[in-house]
Order: sequence, then structure tokens, then C-alpha cells
Amino acid sequence: MKNRGNLVLGVLLYFLVFLGLSCHATQGDVLWRLMWEKATAEPKIGGSKLSVTSERRFLLSEVVKPQAGLKEKDKIDMLPGQPRKVNFNQYGGYVTVDEKIGRALYYYFVEAEGPKDTLPLVLWLNGGPGCSSVGYGAMAEVGPFRVSSDGKTLYQNQYAWNKVANVLFLDSPVGAGFSYTNSSSDEQVNGDERTANDAYVFLVNWLERFPEYKNREFYIAGESYGGHYVPQLAHTIIQHNKEAKQPINLKGIAIGNPMVHEEDDGALGGHFFEFMWSRGFVSEKTIDSIRKGCDFSQPPFRRTKACFRSMYEVIAPLEFVFMDNIYAPLCDHHLTAKPMYTSLDSFDPCNDIYVTAYMNRPEVQNALHANVTKINYPWEECRSLNWTDGAFSVLPLFTEFLENEIRVLVYSGDIDAKIPMTFTQTSLKRLNLSEATPWYAWDSNSEIGGFSVVYEGGLTYATVKGAGHEVPSYQPKRAFVLIKSFLDGVPLPRLHIKEYSDPEV
Ligand SMILES: *[C@@H]1O[C@H](CO)[C@@H](O)[C@H](O)[C@H]1NC(C)=O
Ligand SMILES: *[C@@H]1O[C@H](CO)[C@@H](O)[C@H](O)[C@H]1NC(C)=O
Ligand SMILES: *[C@@H]1O[C@H](CO)[C@@H](O)[C@H](O)[C@H]1NC(C)=O
Repeated sequence: MKNRGNLVLGVLLYFLVFLGLSCHATQGDVLWRLMWEKATAEPKIGGSKLSVTSERRFLLSEVVKPQAGLKEKDKIDMLPGQPRKVNFNQYGGYVTVDEKIGRALYYYFVEAEGPKDTLPLVLWLNGGPGCSSVGYGAMAEVGPFRVSSDGKTLYQNQYAWNKVANVLFLDSPVGAGFSYTNSSSDEQVNGDERTANDAYVFLVNWLERFPEYKNREFYIAGESYGGHYVPQLAHTIIQHNKEAKQPINLKGIAIGNPMVHEEDDGALGGHFFEFMWSRGFVSEKTIDSIRKGCDFSQPPFRRTKACFRSMYEVIAPLEFVFMDNIYAPLCDHHLTAKPMYTSLDSFDPCNDIYVTAYMNRPEVQNALHANVTKINYPWEECRSLNWTDGAFSVLPLFTEFLENEIRVLVYSGDIDAKIPMTFTQTSLKRLNLSEATPWYAWDSNSEIGGFSVVYEGGLTYATVKGAGHEVPSYQPKRAFVLIKSFLDGVPLPRLHIKEYSDPEV
């Protein structure tokens, strides 16, 4: 009981500080909230499940519905405020994933600039759970446009991923972004398993609507809690491919700052405090006291009063730090009457305000073929969803991917405190893979883009220097090198480093 009290106090500490103060929660905030809920829920959410389920639970013939004519209806002429001339097609609309209940997922699709008929198809999924892939992924990360500070006009992202792929953004699960259900109780049973199944049903129907993509090389990318969605959807596809007449041509998955393994609630805690210490946010005395007084490694949790005092000393000042990118400035203004000067190289910390304003404009929703009269609440970048099941680890699936020759890329923005890179590296170590190409510096325009290691079997890990939780927001150029190498199936370019030679002693 005492331990439980301590846990609750720990939760309060984290959330009073991190969530109470920000008016809207970021993708990383929502992720942390879920992790702590999982750690303290009784019984634990999805407690004993090590892996994921989402085995085949339906027949394809039962879920695939006719889609004729819908593609043409989904075509977007132009988004309000977009640059006049663009040389790619945009589509947006709904795919029903449960006819009986009336549950539909919203997608926004941008075809590639260039040879769209041969370039691969990439599905992008943001995390949360509850964050919109259209709001984050498309409008703040890898999509062709960014929203200006007036909340009305768009400007071009020259590092958009649709220069190398056809990119599909899915608001998943139901309750995120423009996705909706006609039964409000339906929204309260969201969880890992239904998310994977719904995304799969979405995908097979979407491929009916866009049949020219049926045989295309297919990749799934995502971030944060997408570290659950992406592998689980890939697993679902592999399961269904076994019986499908036309299997989905899944080639690889890429996940950024992902949640892939929770040994216990404390595992992240330990990495978090060490990360903040290594970045100069924590005194030697305090980290020493945390190391001695807090046991983050395994239950039962040994946490002393000294531990809580020291944790508080670290956490309290962080009210003035943006934890998704500890070096980013904080947002200090609202919408502006005229668009401010923008540079893709320095991400605007008020971006979510602009995106939220833009997505709530009726003319934008009309153009996107999305409509909030369907969802009955204002569009939000992240909505807090009730989560009924969540796997504690998706790592066992990685073994399945490598056996099926599905490439895996895991990457970490190296200044994210929400999922620090060391946390991800520790998780990956559990796979016991041997290194095919040891840790090396990779080249982004003759600078260190980060570091990478390639494992036997086809798993690549990479850090991205100077990137936060949302890597393509903070380092769009480096994220572009990353995705291009991944889609080309080649290692990240190596920086030429002088070889070691023994000094004369
Ligand atoms: C939800 O209900 C509305 C109004 O009855 C209907 O028009 C819409 O098609 C339903 N959505 C789904 C996905 O069935
Ligand atoms: C989550 O569940 C609680 C209790 O059932 C309910 O009050 C709340 O409205 C639900 N939230 C959402 C977003 O469904
Ligand atoms: C990795 O090695 C450890 C220690 O030998 C073992 O307990 C664990 O099951 C291995 N994991 C995998 C995925 O093979």
C-alpha cells in the first residue's frame, strides 16, 4: 500500500507540473499520461499481456466494401490559402471501418511530386493516443504544407516526404482528429487491438478506392505512441496476408521516438532523470540522491522521501522548458494578423495554435471533405482518449518482421526528454541482435546528421542530432535524408572519419 501511495505521489508530481500548466497537451504529454495511468491502474491496463494480439479476427470478404466512385469525390481541388501552383494531387475523406456502429476514419492523402506511379506508398501514424496525423504529421512534420501564423495561409515544406513517396495520413484511432463514431460509447473502448484492426480495415478499403496502389511497395511510418500502432498494424497485415488473394506489399516500418517497451512504470523515469542530468539540468548532488534513493529498475518500487524531494528539484523548473525539445523556445504569442516570416529550419513553437485555427475553419473542413458537425466538438491536435488495452511490449513483433524480411528503422530525436534516446536504445538491446554495421556518424550535408547502427536481419537504429520528439518538425532536412535512405533500402550515408592509428608511445 505504501508503494502504491508513493506511485500516486509520483504521478501527481509529474502531472501537476507537466500537464496542469500547458493548456493543450502535446503528443508527448498524452503519451506520458497513458504510461502513468498504466503504471497505476488496478488491474493494470493490458497488464499481463507481453505482446499484442490482433490476430486475424475477421475475414477480408466481410470487411471490404465497394468503393467505386469515392476516389473522385475525395479529390481536393485546393486547400484554402495554399500556394497556387503545386504539382501533386491531394485527396481527403472518410473510410467506414464499422458499418453497424457507424465508425469512420478520416484520411488525407498527398500523391508524390514526380513519378507517383512507381514511388512507394507510405502510411503515417501519429501517437498520443489521440493525436491527429493530419494535424501533426501532415501540417507540422512531413506533409507538403505548413500553416502560417495567421492560421489561414499555407507555405510549402521543401522537405516534404511526398518528394520520395505517396503519403497517406490517417487520423487513428477513432476520436483522433476528424475520425468519428456515431455511438459515443464506442469511443470509450479504444485500445491497441481495435486501433490495429480498424487501421487494417481502413487500409484494405482505401486500397479498393485507390486500386492503383494495391501492389505498390508499402511502408508504415509513425512516432511516439505510433511505436505501438505501426508494429501492431504491420503484424496484422502479415497475419492477413497469409490468406489474402492479393497480399499487401509491406516492405518496412519506420518509427520515431517510439514507445516500444515498458518494463515497468519506472524504466522511463530512470532514463528521464539521467537524460536531464547529462544535459546540464540537474546538479551532481541531486542526481546522486536520485540514483541512491529511487529504484527505477524493478518492482517493488523503492522510493524514499529523499527520492521524491530530489525528483521534485528536477521537475519543478521544467515548467519553463518544452519537454518535447528541451532547447526549443516556448510559445509566446497567439495568431498574428499577417503571416510572420517563417523558416523551416527553426520550428515555430506556436505552430499548434496556427494548425488548430486552420483546421477549425469551415472552408478548410469543406475543402478537406471533413466536417466537425460529424464529431460535435472542435478539432483538436490531441484528444484525451480512454484506453482499454495496451501491450507492455511490441518488441516480440520485431523478430517477426525481420524473419519476414520487413525492414525496420527506429530513430530518436536526441533532444527529446519524453522518450529519451537512451530509453529506446535500452529497449532495442533486449532483441539481442548482433551488429552488422557498428555505430557510425551519418552524413547530412557534410555535417553529422546523427549516429546510426545497423543490426543483422535488417533493423537500423539512428539518432537525429538536434531533433525533439517530432523529428521532422525540428530537423526536416535530416528527416528527409533518413526517409530517403530507408525507402531506398540503403544505410544512412557515412561521414568520412579518419581511421585510428596507434600513437607512438
Ligand atoms: C453516422 O450517422 C450519420 C447520420 O445518420 C450518417 O449520415 C453517417 O453515414 C453515419 N456514419 C457512418 C460511418 O455510418
Ligand atoms: C472516458 O470514460 C469515462 C468513464 O467511463 C467518461 O466519463 C469519459 O467521458 C470518457 N472519455 C472519453 C473521451 O470517452
Ligand atoms: C536476450 O538474451 C537474454 C539473456 O540471455 C534472454 O533472457 C532473452 O530472452 C533474449 N531475448 C531475445 C529476444 O532473444
